[in-house]
Amino acid sequence: MPESRVPRRRRFLVCEPRHFAVQYAINPWMRPDVPVDVSLAQAQWHELIGVYRTHGHTVDTVEPVPGLPDMVFAANAAVVVGGRVFGSLFKAPERRPESLPYDTWFKSAGHDVYRPESVCEGEGDFVPAGRWILAGTGFRTTREAHREAQEYLGVPVIGLTLTDPYFYHLDTALFVLDDEGEGNIAYYPEAFSPGSREVLARLYPDAVLATREDATAFGLNSVCDGRHVFISPGATALAEQLADRGYVPVPVDLSEFHKAGGGIKCCTQEIRS
Ligand code: ARG
Repeated sequence: MPESRVPRRRRFLVCEPRHFAVQYAINPWMRPDVPVDVSLAQAQWHELIGVYRTHGHTVDTVEPVPGLPDMVFAANAAVVVGGRVFGSLFKAPERRPESLPYDTWFKSAGHDVYRPESVCEGEGDFVPAGRWILAGTGFRTTREAHREAQEYLGVPVIGLTLTDPYFYHLDTALFVLDDEGEGNIAYYPEAFSPGSREVLARLYPDAVLATREDATAFGLNSVCDGRHVFISPGATALAEQLADRGYVPVPVDLSEFHKAGGGIKCCTQEIRS
């Protein structure tokens, strides 16, 4: 029998997809010629928020800004550890203006906000995992930003190199299952350089390894509360592995957001106090 997993209540920050669209292409998923069904996107997003709330999580919202179609991807705006907010400096000029409304929200919620000097995209590439932060580089966030984050947050930052443009942010290739004790993660090894794969195998000998099918279904762009895994319904093999280990997969379909290269985790910023 798998052990019984205990959830921990989370605080999330999200942004309604009122102005969501695919108007430019900054990752291989984005096709400005393929239309987005805006009302379906809205319905899918509201479903996600409802599911978080029924599972006991707190959800705060940032007011969306017209002309910022990717602002719905709240995870990219910052990484918050111990109440300290390490802001973002987006690589794409189209996304740079997103930082201001998010920084303003955090400041009005009483947080200090660090403004980085190097390109970095919040929880897209910084994945807090208990004793350390796993940090992606290769497409967006720079090594220099890893150093800045470690200095500001005072938490060891472990750099990992991403090599597949479809998995351009760390949170498209890896998510945290447990952030206490030894901790554990699920990931898609082929998204990483050989050395980074070795690092992950050393840190997490018992990790859940996902297939390319799971990864392209955005299965690794999941949110886990320690028990429930809010996961894309297309990641069937991964969901089965998780269930075998005592987690409870909760499928939520964000298919309209996949057209922009995002899924559940991208839409969800976690505020860790
Ligand atoms: N279109 C957005 C971009 O390419 C999607 C961001 C997805 N967010 C994430 N955390 N992976 O920047």
